[in-house]
Amino acid sequence: MKSTHITWHDSEISKEDRQNLNHHQSPVLWFTGLSGSGKSTLSVEVEKALYERGVHAYRLDGDNIRHGLNKNLGFSPEDRTENIRRIGEVAKLMNDAGLMTLTAFISPYREDRDNVRALFNEGEFIEVYTKCSLEEAESRDPKGLYKKARSGEIKGFTGVDAPYEEPNEPEIIVETDKQSLEESVQEVMDHLHRIGAIS
Ligand code: PPS
Repeated sequence: MKSTHITWHDSEISKEDRQNLNHHQSPVLWFTGLSGSGKSTLSVEVEKALYERGVHAYRLDGDNIRHGLNKNLGFSPEDRTENIRRIGEVAKLMNDAGLMTLTAFISPYREDRDNVRALFNEGEFIEVYTKCSLEEAESRDPKGLYKKARSGEIKGFTGVDAPYEEPNEPEIIVETDKQSLEESVQEVMDHLHRIGAIS
């Protein structure tokens, strides 16, 4: 059921006020890629690098969020779309709060990611594609889920019997099967410097 008779209330403190207080901007770094492609690993390291530079950042991770906020969602296309829609809205709130957000979700559908992008001002949505071949992700199989998907124990697993739509024009591509973790972290940090999000 949709809400009716609702009114938006503005704060007297603006997003810019909060960003000035923090001395940095509050974009979202949207990590997307196959299971096992390195989204969580990379976003953890970037979050640490940001923390060390005094940046107020917070990470939202698919597995973690599905323990709480999105525990009522599964992996059907509709549920994945709702998962990403909610996370987009949370990231938007954090953006307004002056915090940098790092999200690590497979987010397999281009349209869902583009709908999140549309919530943000130009330059505030930074799509980071953790590019990795299916073969490599499957050989890593950190949680043994590819094995279960191949045996039919898990149905609708991304890359096996559910789609992953690659980003067309991501702001950042890190090739996690070719470059080191340190190089990937540096690439993301360099981008944030280049666009003036951090100093
Ligand atoms: S999505 O597609 O964005 O809604 O997925 P996400 O919220 O990121 O959750 C992905 C993690 O859930 C585990 N898992 C699955 N992934 C893909 N397909 C299926 N069917 C599935 N079932 C469980 C898996 O651990 C994913 O974690 P990552 O970190 O991506 O490996």
